[in-house]
Amino acid sequence: MTISSAITPETVGSILARASRRSEIAPFIVMDVMERAARIEAEGGHVIHMEVGQPAAPAPQAAREAARRALDHGRIGYTTALGIPSLRARIARHYGETYNVDLDPARVVVTTGSSAGFLLAFLAMFEPGDRVAIANPGYPPYRHILTALGCEPVLIETDAASRWVITPEALAQAHAKAPLKGVLVASPANPTGTMMRPEALAELVRTAEGLGIRFISDEIYHGLDYAFPATTAAAISPNATIIHSFSKYFCMTGWRVGWMVMPATLVRAVERLQQNLMISVPTLSQIAAEAAFDGAAEMEAVKHGYEENRLILTQGLPKVGLPEFLPVDGAFYLYADVSRFTDDSAGFARRLLDEAHVAATPGVDFDPHRGHHYLRLSYAGAASEMREAVTRIGDFLRRG
Ligand SMILES: Cc1ncc(COP(=O)(O)O)c(C=O)c1O
Repeated sequence: MTISSAITPETVGSILARASRRSEIAPFIVMDVMERAARIEAEGGHVIHMEVGQPAAPAPQAAREAARRALDHGRIGYTTALGIPSLRARIARHYGETYNVDLDPARVVVTTGSSAGFLLAFLAMFEPGDRVAIANPGYPPYRHILTALGCEPVLIETDAASRWVITPEALAQAHAKAPLKGVLVASPANPTGTMMRPEALAELVRTAEGLGIRFISDEIYHGLDYAFPATTAAAISPNATIIHSFSKYFCMTGWRVGWMVMPATLVRAVERLQQNLMISVPTLSQIAAEAAFDGAAEMEAVKHGYEENRLILTQGLPKVGLPEFLPVDGAFYLYADVSRFTDDSAGFARRLLDEAHVAATPGVDFDPHRGHHYLRLSYAGAASEMREAVTRIGDFLRRG
């Protein structure tokens, strides 16, 4: 049978080749930096990697041993959609131990990294067209995931006056312009490395909820707080959604496992979504994650390494000509103002890599408006590399 078509083969070809409009989201420029760094290394150059936001240390030994035992045991099957019950209970216990919050394990949902947590949370809470506030600068996938789901990310500008966080006033103003359905904050944040003071977080949660705006708190960098202890939004309101991960403090980026603390009324919606979208989170990773809680000594040692790196940079960079950066409170990022040197942070990062072999991420990745004046330096590497980086950056700035 021949099926004829009224449209030409060329038109058919162009229809089939076209990606959806919702997939038209910006790439991550840091990937270009990584590729360029790899080329320099292939030619024998020694690059100091300050572009990537991940720990150099492996998962805690207890986690790796638990995974090894589980592999030897034989069968790695599906788990229930919300996660292995003992892991959910262990995560709930973590809230009691760390924040003195009595958390019902029934509100804990295990996810495939916090990235899948955003997807599940946004799907469970928002309709296409809903407006969701996020801080600018901020972690790019927030706006890209929202855009891909047909929601509208609303960038709220932050600055030194607000200590680089969304204020209740700024939230209320954005809501008055056109109603918001959600607000998402991170503390410590990426790329800024700044944190919200406990009172600031509490006030923002209360303001959001008073206006009927759902509150989402990305707490992936909890545990990596140096300036003052991070507060969980779970201690402030049972209606806040917490997104967390084993990627950063627990040093388990590639295991792809995280968790959410959901308002009780939304757990069933997330369960249905996870059943259909993912079935369950990788079992081996869940087993390893539960054991990771026994690796506190190792993780604290890694954290002390970051604290040392933080001092090397905050004390060293001003001496070599880079004195302006945002409050370096937590995570492992320093967000430097390079406006006295350039209006083109992407070009500046490229030259820093080519000439000084220091890989850094241009601010344009995180801030479409002012990012051309900023550079993000990750200090998750070794202390010796951080010292060398300060020297190289100093030489680079002197050469001009
Ligand atoms: C602020 C922030 N949230 C979420 C993520 C996603 O992490 P994962 O999916 O590995 O949990 C990252 C990764 O860098 C991040 O910086």
